[in-house]
Amino acid sequence: MRVPVKFLGFVFWLFFFNCVRCQAKQRSCRDLSVENGLIHSHPSNEEEIFYTCKTGYKPFTGNWWDSVTCSKGSWSEEPRCIREEECGAFPSVHHGKLKQSPRDRGTAEVECDPGFISTQRFITCIRGTWEKPVCEVGVSCNIPPKVEYAFITSKPEELYAHGSSVTYVCQNSLLMNGKSTVFCRNGTWEETPTCEAKCQKPHKNFITLLKEKEEYDNKEVLRYKCIEPYNEIPEGEWICENGEWNGTFVCRGKICPPPPYVENGDYTASKMDGSEITEVYYTCQPHYVLNMKQRYYKCEKGKWETPPKCLKPCEITPEIFEVHNVEPIREKFYLPHGKTSERYCKYYYSEGRWNRRFITLTCSDGKLTIPPCQ
Ligand SMILES: *[C@@H]1O[C@H](CO)[C@@H](O)[C@H](O)[C@H]1NC(C)=O
Ligand SMILES: *[C@@H]1O[C@H](CO)[C@@H](O)[C@H](O)[C@H]1NC(C)=O
Repeated sequence: MRVPVKFLGFVFWLFFFNCVRCQAKQRSCRDLSVENGLIHSHPSNEEEIFYTCKTGYKPFTGNWWDSVTCSKGSWSEEPRCIREEECGAFPSVHHGKLKQSPRDRGTAEVECDPGFISTQRFITCIRGTWEKPVCEVGVSCNIPPKVEYAFITSKPEELYAHGSSVTYVCQNSLLMNGKSTVFCRNGTWEETPTCEAKCQKPHKNFITLLKEKEEYDNKEVLRYKCIEPYNEIPEGEWICENGEWNGTFVCRGKICPPPPYVENGDYTASKMDGSEITEVYYTCQPHYVLNMKQRYYKCEKGKWETPPKCLKPCEITPEIFEVHNVEPIREKFYLPHGKTSERYCKYYYSEGRWNRRFITLTCSDGKLTIPPCQ
């Protein structure tokens, strides 16, 4: 029973060995030849080929000889001989890599890893050798600069690594000038944007603008002249600061004098400009009446509108009635301007009976008209 087991083991080994060999055979790489080069392989290891190049040539990988290996039926790379003055494979870059420039085979772009920076953005091939770029740690930036009327759409951090970015947004949809996203470049933030708003034309009736415009740009200066009689300070200027006018319009002068005096009347201020009364309405003393419908009177350019008058009432005394034969009264009274008073005259005897007339008294600005009673 022992022999057959040994035999089986031998058969199994034979099969296994042959199979590995047959697989290796099946998976061997195609034969290689290198233009302008020479190859060498050791008979015991056909899976590795060494090659070198003819005078004036060099392997693409940059050394004076190189090797390629066969794995799973294909060569690790194509052995290539290039001319000495050409640059072949890129050198390795610590903390970065190189990218072929699409336009120029003789230059390559340096791409450093995040947080690293290179002194050169491109390297060139100089007489068959690539320049050696260095990716060094980029300097971090401090907190990004403050932009007036803006905020940043990320949490503030103590340090910002080289290459990181922040994004600015203007408040109240103000207009942004410049790029909203800025990057930290080796310790320095790129130029930040600004938030600008235009200023609207001011509406003041005591100034004229030297250059009439509906809108003014940020930082634009508006020059104005004060209108007579407010031109004690003849002109001034405002600065448009982010949508608002910086300063106050100063126009002073022979501003409104006190409202005109109206005999037997008084005024009530209805509008003020600072301590200045600029609009009033008038009322009259008792029994006096305005000569026109009540309205507001304005002071414009330092001048008041012609004020109304208070028209006098008529004073009617018992004596006056006595003289005019009007039915007597005990106490005096006032008949306001424009009003009438209906009265009886005293009785008189005529044509065999007692009669009395009916009269209407009128008053016009203190002048009483009494129709005759006889
Ligand atoms: C980065 O900044 C450091 C310190 O300011 C400086 O020495 C270095 O040259 C800078 N690197 C680049 C690529 O500008
Ligand atoms: C307003 O104008 C004055 C005078 O020109 C200037 O000193 C000041 O900084 C301005 N104010 C603002 C908020 O810009």
